[in-house]
Amino acid sequence: MTDNNFIPQNLDYSNLKKGSFTFKTPSNIALVKYWGKEKIQIPKNSSISFTLSACFTLTTLDFEKKLKSDDNFDFEVFFEDKNHDDFKPKIKKFFERIDSYLPFLKDYKFTIKTRNSFPHSSGIASSASGMAALSLCLMQIEKELNPNISDEYFNKKASFLARLGSGSASRSIEGEVVVWGKHPAIDHSSDVLGVKFPYPIHQNFKNYHDTILLVDKGEKQVSSTVGHDLMNNHPFAEQRFKQAYDNLNEMSIILQTGNLKDFISLVESEALTLHAMMMTSNPYFILMKPNTLKIIEKIWAFRKETNSNICFTLDAGANVHVLFPEKEKEQIHGFITNKLIEHCQNKQFICDRIGLGAKMV
Ligand code: PMV
Repeated sequence: MTDNNFIPQNLDYSNLKKGSFTFKTPSNIALVKYWGKEKIQIPKNSSISFTLSACFTLTTLDFEKKLKSDDNFDFEVFFEDKNHDDFKPKIKKFFERIDSYLPFLKDYKFTIKTRNSFPHSSGIASSASGMAALSLCLMQIEKELNPNISDEYFNKKASFLARLGSGSASRSIEGEVVVWGKHPAIDHSSDVLGVKFPYPIHQNFKNYHDTILLVDKGEKQVSSTVGHDLMNNHPFAEQRFKQAYDNLNEMSIILQTGNLKDFISLVESEALTLHAMMMTSNPYFILMKPNTLKIIEKIWAFRKETNSNICFTLDAGANVHVLFPEKEKEQIHGFITNKLIEHCQNKQFICDRIGLGAKMV
């Protein structure tokens, strides 16, 4: 797939006056992390993620044809029913990037109404689910104009557009496991969009749990845009990209064979490597908090004691994603409530699990 595949020909929108679409779109958690990009949102290495379920964004896009076309993007943004002009610059930039792929953007006035299932400023990034939700709503307009487009094209283009809003958003369209970035071990993988993991996933990973411990809900000190940029001229960049390449190979085998011990060591190493990249960039920074480390130490001790298959991963923040198989959920829920939530801000956590992808509502 190249960018040109997504430039629609001869769309006739003279008859589509107005409408409204709503999509519920999940967040995702990377197992092999994306950190470092080039050009416009092309990843330096391929990444793979579990699509989540309980953490989602619900976005309604109302659109109405302008009386007279002009050269401006015309839109309003409401977050949790309140006008949110702070989101406008990011969305305007997104519209500029996708304009040539959705040539009707300047012909309509849009109202974007969005909300998240997770608490605002919980440290859970809403850019992946948010950008994916908006892309799906826009694709539904294209589908209205051209009902013949296939579901496959619809999802691919939605992922392609979402990627231009936020890289990891390309992995929030489909479930249960998605790969973004071209890799020889994954058929049809691509740098410009996320694809559903194309091989059978072992039963051990069915219903896999991700309990998100909200350690620090403050604003991120360093945005992921700045973090990605710091991988340019990073002293360990080339080794890191090579390691991610090898890890994706290995993760593909693990997901098919169900080897949980290998899963644990790969996922935890990826999480710590992501943070090691942050700590060794110039300027350097640390996103983990003391409570992040306390939780990690307790997970390691519990695993040693019980031989459980619990493990953790981290995003670009202090929160800890606790991953574990369905079979062990009672024992691990007990451990989380008795031992880990004391390290969360206001004892807050979210019980999530692997999910099936976005849905129109
Ligand atoms: O999509 P971005 O630009 O917010 O980058 C996300 C990067 C990580 O969440 C740290 C890793 C990943 O692959 O999701």
